[in-house]
Amino acid sequence: MHTICLIPGDGIGQEVVPAAAEALQLLGLDLTFVEAQAGFACFEQHGSALPEATLALARMSDAVLFGATSSPSTIIEGYRSPILALRREFDLYANLRPVYSLPGAFSQPGIDLLIVRENTEGLYSGRERCDGDTAIAERVITRTGSERIVRVACEQAMQRSELRCRPPVLTIVHKANVLKLTDGLFRDCALKVAEEFPAIKVNELLVDSAAMKLVKSPQSLDVLVTTNLFGDILSDEASALVGGLGVAASASLGSGTPVFEPVHGSAPDIAGQGISNPVGALLSSALMLEALNEPNAASRLRQAVLDTLASGLFTTDLGGMATTRQFTGAVCARLG
Ligand code: NAI
Ligand code: MG
Repeated sequence: MHTICLIPGDGIGQEVVPAAAEALQLLGLDLTFVEAQAGFACFEQHGSALPEATLALARMSDAVLFGATSSPSTIIEGYRSPILALRREFDLYANLRPVYSLPGAFSQPGIDLLIVRENTEGLYSGRERCDGDTAIAERVITRTGSERIVRVACEQAMQRSELRCRPPVLTIVHKANVLKLTDGLFRDCALKVAEEFPAIKVNELLVDSAAMKLVKSPQSLDVLVTTNLFGDILSDEASALVGGLGVAASASLGSGTPVFEPVHGSAPDIAGQGISNPVGALLSSALMLEALNEPNAASRLRQAVLDTLASGLFTTDLGGMATTRQFTGAVCARLG
């Protein structure tokens, strides 16, 4: 029995999370769904973007399936991004973003990489201040934070190597040539932790060069580990190689309830039209099933998504005509 807390959130989160839940229900597992609110609409209604009741439900669940929330780029008194708050509350320090080739002309072939992004510190430390006309953000890198994220990346590299029967390769992405203290510490910690995994071939790339390599030869990359902001940017970039934000999935793991969410945001430009791509949410659900130790259900769900894409049914972001409902219906038909 697994209890799953659904937090659709704002915008297209309200379309893709129900789509994923519909597919999850067809897998013959003993799943209990509880639904909770978060996001900007929730803030406007209840005065909190992440109410205590939502946290309580998430805490008692085995996993959270999160859609997306809208965060205005201006300061709104009392509003804080609920996903950042959730990551901090549950100390979800490891954000895993797998990027692999999908069947369709929208995707490049031969790509199978994983970006492991530190999720709690770096430039997203929340320490910003103004000093007259100067605004300052503190980029916080700690030894503990760096060591634990690199350990996760090494474990992932070992696991992937076993499953794929190929040698494990880890690429440490940083900018230590400029950020000598912060990324210097991250780099030192990464090299030290990687020594505990002698089977892993370790490379390092400066972040700008990593951004270029992702475009030029993504097929040569396996596991990348990096700090918070670099990971955020590189993973959106990497998603474009295989179809874009609509297909990108993620898992956030740490001490508390793990959170699974499509990488995209609330997409206000298409919200409410029923045309959002549910693939990111569906593949995030497959990652969730793996974490819940349901590998068979996870591969059935993933395969149903791949088969549906292979049949030529795509949403508009991938160059097709299918609506969210049509695509989800086709996945569900394969599962039922
Ligand atoms: P976005 O990911 O919402 O949208 C970027 C572009 O990709 C848009 O043109 C959108 O239509 C398209 N897109 C994204 N997901 C799609 C899908 N599933 N199917 C089809 N097209 C899709 O990013 P944007 O526009 O920068 O941010 C919008 C809002 O989302 C902001 O308020 C931002 O703060 C929030 N956001 C929330 C995140 C989260 O909850 N984890 C992550 C990223 C952004
Ligand atoms: Mg992002």
